[in-house]
Amino acid sequence: MNFKEYIRVIPDYPQPGIRFKDITTLLQNGPVYKEAIDQLKALIQEKEIDVIAGPEARGFVIGAPLAYALGVGFIPIRKSGKLPAETIEADYALEYGKDKLAMHTDAIKPGQKVLIADDLLATGGTIQTSIDLIKQLGGEIVGAAFLIELSYLDGRSKFDGIDVVSLVQY
Ligand code: PRP
Repeated sequence: MNFKEYIRVIPDYPQPGIRFKDITTLLQNGPVYKEAIDQLKALIQEKEIDVIAGPEARGFVIGAPLAYALGVGFIPIRKSGKLPAETIEADYALEYGKDKLAMHTDAIKPGQKVLIADDLLATGGTIQTSIDLIKQLGGEIVGAAFLIELSYLDGRSKFDGIDVVSLVQY
């Protein structure tokens, strides 16, 4: 399946020069959304995974169905101020803008094998910060899975040694 046909590219959003990859047009198509999750699942199937962690908000729409499909837990990585219990936080820079990510301190048990999932790998800042948080909690990163990878930004070079898979590359 050519998933690119279902991803809408919006020029100059949210800033001039950014070609935004809008996945809502893929998500609203049930069979295509299902096929995307099934294909991502096939790419990570061989791995031993205890939990999947995904960053807010679009990481949830990829990470949660993937976790359900594998029958493992899902850990939300949220922007600062959203999680109600005790958290750890870390600053991160985005392709455009900057924010803080947070996880509950009891989200991951030391030694758990964690796969990170998100809709898009751009600069890799979000995932680098997610990796730092998961490692602080004692988790072992077994890979990262993305619907889309912006290969021209070479985000994957930020996390050498971690297996990165993606369904669609630009
Ligand atoms: C987007 C996207 C990734 C991240 C990729 O999320 O969903 O999480 O940016 O960029 P990076 O590789 O340069 O870090 P965003 O922070 O826009 O949040 P959203 O999912 O809530 O829209």
